[in-house]
Amino acid sequence: MAKLKTRYICQTCGSAQSRWQGQCPDCAEWNTLAQEAAVLSTVFAAKHDLSAGGRPIDLVSLDVAVALPPRLASGIAEFDRAVGGGLVPGSATLIGGDPGIGKSTLLLQVAAHMANAGRSVIYLSGEEAADQVRLRALRLGLGGAPVRLAAATSVRDILTTLGHDEPPALLVIDSIQTMHSDLIEGAPGTVSQVRASAQELVRFAKDQGTALVLVGHVTKDGSIAGPRVLEHMVDTVLGFEGERSHQYRILRAVKNRFGGTDEIGVFAMEGSGLTQVPNPSALFLTQRGEAVSGTSVFPALEGTRPVLVEIQSLVVRLASGATPRRAAVGWDSGRLAMVLAVLEARCGMSFATSEVYLNVAGGYRLSDPAADLAVVAALVSALSERPIPGDSVVLGEVALSGEVRPVAHAALRLKEASKLGFERAWVPSGVDSESGIALTRFANLRALVDQILGR
Ligand code: TYD
Ligand code: MG
Repeated sequence: MAKLKTRYICQTCGSAQSRWQGQCPDCAEWNTLAQEAAVLSTVFAAKHDLSAGGRPIDLVSLDVAVALPPRLASGIAEFDRAVGGGLVPGSATLIGGDPGIGKSTLLLQVAAHMANAGRSVIYLSGEEAADQVRLRALRLGLGGAPVRLAAATSVRDILTTLGHDEPPALLVIDSIQTMHSDLIEGAPGTVSQVRASAQELVRFAKDQGTALVLVGHVTKDGSIAGPRVLEHMVDTVLGFEGERSHQYRILRAVKNRFGGTDEIGVFAMEGSGLTQVPNPSALFLTQRGEAVSGTSVFPALEGTRPVLVEIQSLVVRLASGATPRRAAVGWDSGRLAMVLAVLEARCGMSFATSEVYLNVAGGYRLSDPAADLAVVAALVSALSERPIPGDSVVLGEVALSGEVRPVAHAALRLKEASKLGFERAWVPSGVDSESGIALTRFANLRALVDQILGR
């Protein structure tokens, strides 16, 4: 027996509850449960009556040759790289990012490039008037691109309009939170509206072979607003990241049914829109002249792409007994506390009466433990006021024992460093030299400290 049941859906996390509560038991947000239209809930004990028939499903083997999905390349190499070689026709892509980070700018550029290449492209904005989008296109020097443009928020109107014509190769919806489906109640932006609107648009894209790109806003905690279900409904989820105060932006695939998630696209936001950054290391390394104490260079990896970043630290001795501050920008402060403790316990270097500041240049964020040794080098260099040689990069993970551990993809990182003119590298023991870079190997932190102090 099927019976009619009311559910309460959390507008933040999308979880379903059987009764209304002030606080969502799943995500602990307050006042987020809203009643959803009655749904048919089947009793779990129900069983199919197979005598009534059913259609047998064809089962196939895995080793049949399949054609790779064709790709719709935009010609913007950094974008195409991040999505795995271009958008796939009949697929849905969600791109999330903080407000003002440049999502609309990026998609307008992608849309214009594709339109200029002769594809039919429709760009629908629910956030800006058509004139505003047109003005932006003019400013980007893309005013002549044959993109078809409208300000629209009603999914019904959108689908009606699209139904009158050949389906476009690319459809951009900016943003899914402004869309409204009259199939269900609720204001635009609520979980049920976002889900219903997305569902209809995704169905259109799959049926018509259109590559659909949805813009999604990101909430305070960094997830795309609306329920997780939005991420399940699309084939590809991209994040557009960066600090608003800094120029660089990284386009990263979080999920990709048609490709890997380890490629990124790097852009810089400039007066004329987003420009591609084929050589990201140059962006994150400040102009390196004379070596100064307190800085080191770490060869980071973004997916399979090496990026050299500068780590800066400042150690200020306090005269009084005030509690010294520790602050880290672009690095985990828990990990900073850890390496400071290891330095104290294993090498007798005390920062107890000093304030310690750590900064990763260019607004870059590091979470790779391979950066430990470069952080330690910057800290010891700052404390001792002895610079790390300017032609060196530093990499290695630090264990609580004070041991320096090997890191993943050392060869790839060193190759990039060598390409950018670095001649020496401080590495964990066991790293082979094959990139023409002179290696100094360290088994433990004490050896690194001795090297910096010239002992
Ligand atoms: P936008 O694409 O509107 O961001 P989003 O859609 O993610 O909210 O980008 C807005 C910011 O980008 C805005 O603060 C101004 C800046 N910008 C430039 O610096 N140069 C440009 O050419 C453009 C179009 C925008
Ligand atoms: Mg926008």
